[in-house]
Amino acid sequence: MSLRKVFEGHSGRYILKIDHFFDVYEKHFSRFRNTRMRILEIGINEGGSMLLWRNYFGADCEIHGLDINPNARNVVADDVFVHIGSQDDEEFLLSIVRQHGPFDIVIDDGSHFMDHQIRSFETLYPTMTERGVYVCEDAFTSYWREYSGKVGGANTFIEYAKGLVDELHAYWATDDNMEPTPFTNSTEGIYFYSGAVVFERAPVEPPKCVARHKDIVNVSRISELREKEVKRMERESRNDRTLMRRLRSRLRRLLKRSPG
Ligand SMILES: C[S@@+](CC[C@H](N)C(=O)[O-])C[C@H]1O[C@@H](n2cnc3c(N)ncnc32)[C@H](O)[C@@H]1O
Repeated sequence: MSLRKVFEGHSGRYILKIDHFFDVYEKHFSRFRNTRMRILEIGINEGGSMLLWRNYFGADCEIHGLDINPNARNVVADDVFVHIGSQDDEEFLLSIVRQHGPFDIVIDDGSHFMDHQIRSFETLYPTMTERGVYVCEDAFTSYWREYSGKVGGANTFIEYAKGLVDELHAYWATDDNMEPTPFTNSTEGIYFYSGAVVFERAPVEPPKCVARHKDIVNVSRISELREKEVKRMERESRNDRTLMRRLRSRLRRLLKRSPG
């Protein structure tokens, strides 16, 4: 049953989600269903979404939620863990990881303040399992004036995530100040959806170039590919210069011959 269907069958505790996020979750979460895995949701309100995760992921999933509101402790079922504290408290987050981590999935559906989103991400992301998934929900606050958001605004989560897109490409960058980082080496992809950003973790090796022709398989490093490309460009520019010289001398000859 799809997550959307599980949601449609849900009754009881209040759940608040953006409708198209169900499709996003399905895409990134389905591989974890009915496996032994751990999920941490930041911001649980009445705990309705924790019940949704239980029904979707199955009995082997260990579900943790954290909320700044102490009432959250009272409102959830027995088979989930609730931690009370703020998502911008690094030590609080790390203590949860030390006791219960590492997590396979982290969903940030807490305050939606961008400095909180960034702090939670920077604290939790490096602690996750190798192939974990981190979701920053409601990243649209990066565009809301009420949250000091605006298009291209400094310190928004979206601008921060755009910076991580550069880090993701560090192996390709020829800029001297762009070296692969722990983020580069542990992130397979960043997915931008309308209002949410998803980070898929995986161990990353320096990229290779593979060519196949009949029985010949050729594997080369990207740096070799770049060298080849530079040489090709040099050759082409030499050819261009030769061509220009030829054209110029032909033009001169034509001008000499012309009666006027
Ligand atoms: C949108 S609700 C969560 C909804 C829930 N995830 C769901 O899907 O039904 C946001 C929750 O974040 C909590 N919250 C707000 N600021 C927080 C903070 N700094 N740290 C942790 N939780 C916070 C609120 O108390 C509230 O319960």
